[in-house]
Amino acid sequence: MKAFIENLPKAELHVHLEGTLEPELSFALARKNGVALEYETPEALLAAYDFHDLPSFLAIYYKAMNVLRHEQDFFELTWQYLQKAHQQKIVYAEMFFDPQAHTSRGVPFDTVIRGIHRAQERAASELGVQTKLIMCFLRDLSAESALQTLRQALPYQDWIVGVGLDSDEKDNPPVKFAEAFSRARDAGLRLTMHCDVNQQNTLLHIRQCLETIGVDRIDHGVNSLEDPALCDIIRERSLGLTVCPVSNRFVVQSLTAAEIRRMLDLGLRATINSDDPAYFRAYLNENLLALHQDGGLTRHEIVQLVKNSFLVAWLDDESRAEYLLQVDEYLQRAA
Ligand code: ADE
Ligand code: ZN
Repeated sequence: MKAFIENLPKAELHVHLEGTLEPELSFALARKNGVALEYETPEALLAAYDFHDLPSFLAIYYKAMNVLRHEQDFFELTWQYLQKAHQQKIVYAEMFFDPQAHTSRGVPFDTVIRGIHRAQERAASELGVQTKLIMCFLRDLSAESALQTLRQALPYQDWIVGVGLDSDEKDNPPVKFAEAFSRARDAGLRLTMHCDVNQQNTLLHIRQCLETIGVDRIDHGVNSLEDPALCDIIRERSLGLTVCPVSNRFVVQSLTAAEIRRMLDLGLRATINSDDPAYFRAYLNENLLALHQDGGLTRHEIVQLVKNSFLVAWLDDESRAEYLLQVDEYLQRAA
């Protein structure tokens, strides 16, 4: 199964680029940019990773970003992830970035997106890995800040496929951002939002995503299983759910394997993703392997999850069909 998963052509739809910042790159950028780090070595930094819920993770995640200052830093970050993705047989990725986490530190929007975009172009030409970018608003900042960020992004609209919503969900419901998402939709962007696992008012938040915002996808969304009416809407609209099992193991102490199986049984389009792989120490293959080894998911279920990623990806019909054919050809060879 390990080799089967490793060689299977895959898509990733829920990965935060800032969450791919490996300790070694942190140290290299800190040295280059003259930024002081609290730890002596990458190993010591890694040993200090101590998350047990969303806020404790986010505190470490935002602090680490301080080493990202220049366009080349964002290039390196993205390029390292895309090389890793290529090694893992990820042929297509939709990647999140958090511009407000940088503009709030004085790094211009243009610096962030140009560095990322340059790495995307290189990955396409040198590695054959196709990617798209999703701009996330930080939900613990104001609605006005989200609108301002959307205005900053519109000149680069050709480089962005959609908008998302991440960061601390507590007291920051989807409806807080109704205007920013409505304007993004009018501008032709796709919409997704995090509904992190076991958050306060999670069923209300999922309902707002579906009824008020009109999302095209939900990130995490595992708790939708608790409400059959929500499941019905998600199934009828063929909405993807981007589940992140190893991330869940850190944040809610469960791989949520039983929930993922239940989604498949209900005909929901669950997909598997890494979220913040440098922090949770698991890229996409390790997530799929954990689901098989620790969660008991079968080869058939793993294949369905991987196919779902291509089915719900923001691709044109022709590209989608090509990727699904790649998977089917692989399955025939592996049979
Ligand atoms: N930002 C990066 N990772 C996140 C997650 N898992 N939930 C919310 N915001 C995030
Ligand atoms: Zn996430």
